[in-house]
Amino acid sequence: MAQPYSARSRAIEPFHVMALLARANELQAAGHDVIHLEIGEPDFTTAAPIIKAGQAALANGETRYTAARGLPALREAIAGFYATRYGLNIDPQRILVTPGGSGALLLASSLLVDPGKHWLLADPGYPCNRHFLRLVEGAAQLVPVGPEVNYQLNADLVERYWDQDSVGALVASPANPTGTVLDREQLASLAKAVRERHGHLVVDEIYHGLTYGMDAPSVLEVEDQAFVLNSFSKYFGMTGWRLGWLVAPPAAVADLEKLAQNLYISAPSMAQHAALACFEPATLAILEERREEFGRRRDFLLPALRELGFGIAVEPQGAFYLYADISAFGGDAFAFCRHFLETEHVAFTPGLDFGRHQAGHHVRFAYTQSMPRLQEAVERIERGLRSWQG
Ligand SMILES: Cc1ncc(COP(=O)(O)O)c(C=O)c1O
Repeated sequence: MAQPYSARSRAIEPFHVMALLARANELQAAGHDVIHLEIGEPDFTTAAPIIKAGQAALANGETRYTAARGLPALREAIAGFYATRYGLNIDPQRILVTPGGSGALLLASSLLVDPGKHWLLADPGYPCNRHFLRLVEGAAQLVPVGPEVNYQLNADLVERYWDQDSVGALVASPANPTGTVLDREQLASLAKAVRERHGHLVVDEIYHGLTYGMDAPSVLEVEDQAFVLNSFSKYFGMTGWRLGWLVAPPAAVADLEKLAQNLYISAPSMAQHAALACFEPATLAILEERREEFGRRRDFLLPALRELGFGIAVEPQGAFYLYADISAFGGDAFAFCRHFLETEHVAFTPGLDFGRHQAGHHVRFAYTQSMPRLQEAVERIERGLRSWQG
């Protein structure tokens, strides 16, 4: 018999929602109208000026590798974005363009994690983070977080959970699945707690730009040594182009460049050329309109779900998710999701995909559908609750 595949690959869990998605596709193929609230990407296609720039790049034959760090013009444009959005002066030399925020996570975990070392992560959180850690033989130290701490790590939790094998903490602001944001003081005290322990802080800022009624501060405003992940996927609406970036402390850049050369050579060149159009005023105007639309959707869905009895204890300020407690209805979250898919053809994600802490009675709704579809979803959910026997 052949050797088994690696223990690390076996240890990585699939997205549990995929089983529901497969069933949703089956229902759709059979002619049912499924409302998808499980999908973590904007429903808008990429803005026209970006597509045009991508088409021009292809027409001009921009189809080869770029430098491993990315196109100099794009790194400068990203640095310019930090200057206008955050008032920050970031040297473009510190910016590496990556294949998605996922590529930036791969670089950061490859650079910062040795076998057996621990990283503090919030539970619930984005599941791939702990899987990236597993891939580099590190371990996620999951810190249970709830509404009382805004579902975020803080300095007290770092103090409580840090042990002799801990080397860093990774947070996301705004977070997936909860949409909560760390303010400047919280970022500063978290950074201080990690720095005092000689650890590294990685902040996932890929939902920046998608905040409602406020702007999320970057950790770079308060901590120059933090590693920052960002992406063209969410605010810039380019999920399929696979493009993101990492801002690293100057001392880390040469090692990161070496890793990038080896792991993926470069981010997609046509996507990089297309992304140059992201920072033009006409594009930003489109993106800001979309942000307002996401804000309107949140302002509709949040009270509507609360009224039906879903527990959403803190108002999410960003991303496009609502993480809801279903205890009031009884039963297990996975069965709950399956019930709504089968009876009402509404798909959403069970808490199990985001960790272990109280996962069995939480679900995530993504408001990545138009307002009329969300209204229809709420009607169906109301009806489905009447037939749910938790
Ligand atoms: C918190 C978080 N980080 C990173 C990613 C990776 O996204 P991408 O590789 O498309 O930039 C996602 C995607 O959903 C996410 O939710």
